[in-house]
Amino acid sequence: MKNILVVGSSNLDITAYTPKFPQNGETVSGRSMSISVGGKGANQATAAARAGGTVAFISKIGNDSMSDMILKSFKNDGINTDFVYISKTCETGSAFIEVNDITGDNRIVCIAGANATLTKEEMQAAEVCFKKADIMLVQLELETDRVTEAIKTAKKYNVPVILNPAPAKKLSNDIYSYIDYFTPNESEAAFYTGFSVNNDSDAEKAADVLLKKGIKNVIITMGKKGCFIKNSKYCKKIMPFNVKAVDTTGAGDSFNGGLAVALANNEDILTAIEFASATAALSVTKEGTSKAMPFKSEIDYFLKNSSLI
Ligand code: RIB
Repeated sequence: MKNILVVGSSNLDITAYTPKFPQNGETVSGRSMSISVGGKGANQATAAARAGGTVAFISKIGNDSMSDMILKSFKNDGINTDFVYISKTCETGSAFIEVNDITGDNRIVCIAGANATLTKEEMQAAEVCFKKADIMLVQLELETDRVTEAIKTAKKYNVPVILNPAPAKKLSNDIYSYIDYFTPNESEAAFYTGFSVNNDSDAEKAADVLLKKGIKNVIITMGKKGCFIKNSKYCKKIMPFNVKAVDTTGAGDSFNGGLAVALANNEDILTAIEFASATAALSVTKEGTSKAMPFKSEIDYFLKNSSLI
């Protein structure tokens, strides 16, 4: 099994499932709630571990009643937690999520908490993980300086870098040439290019802008519409799998976790995207984020028995 290094956030997700999102000033009755492990980093680490990777995770949680539950969940999925730090002063990051029962759509408010306190020294202490990694996957829920350090350390050891730019944040221009795979969704692609991305032709235009910045492979995820890949070899729309979404929260995370595993296994990028799309398709059929990530056996079965739309 290949070594996947995930650097990123851990949150406690508090989710309300509701038939209707409230308007400003309105109160609506929801159907149910759940409290579970989330954070884009934690979700991606879990997705990669369940999809067949050997995963090390660099993250930071609080010294509170949630940390045991979070660490236990990582350990159950076989994730190496040697560098999941525990803050003495700050609470675990949290996310307040609303999921629409009819459409599966979500809205999220995040509080960074301990995620924002991961230090340069703590990142440096985890350098051993970079040396061993076959691929490194990072998002933007940590401080941007930490993300930059992680990307540069990965490059020092020739480790391919996937940056999932979620949530979109300004990056320094010199970082783009270090990124092997950049995986924005449509709104993140719009953030980095300055124009809206709603269809294939927008996606191709956005990919061109991003490739010009020095990124090697641009994969724009487009939800129900599939995804778009452009690099020096391919310029291609990849259709999605047809599933009934009950909760789309963490769909991007499952995609990135699956992608990391397939790329680390040296799959061709189109095959890797198909594996990632299957991982995402399965994750949206279940409620929750980390807990909804599918296992390798489920992904393999799904790929054998389903076809792209
Ligand atoms: O991508 C979904 C994740 O975003 C949630 O788990 C939440 O914690 C936020 O980080």
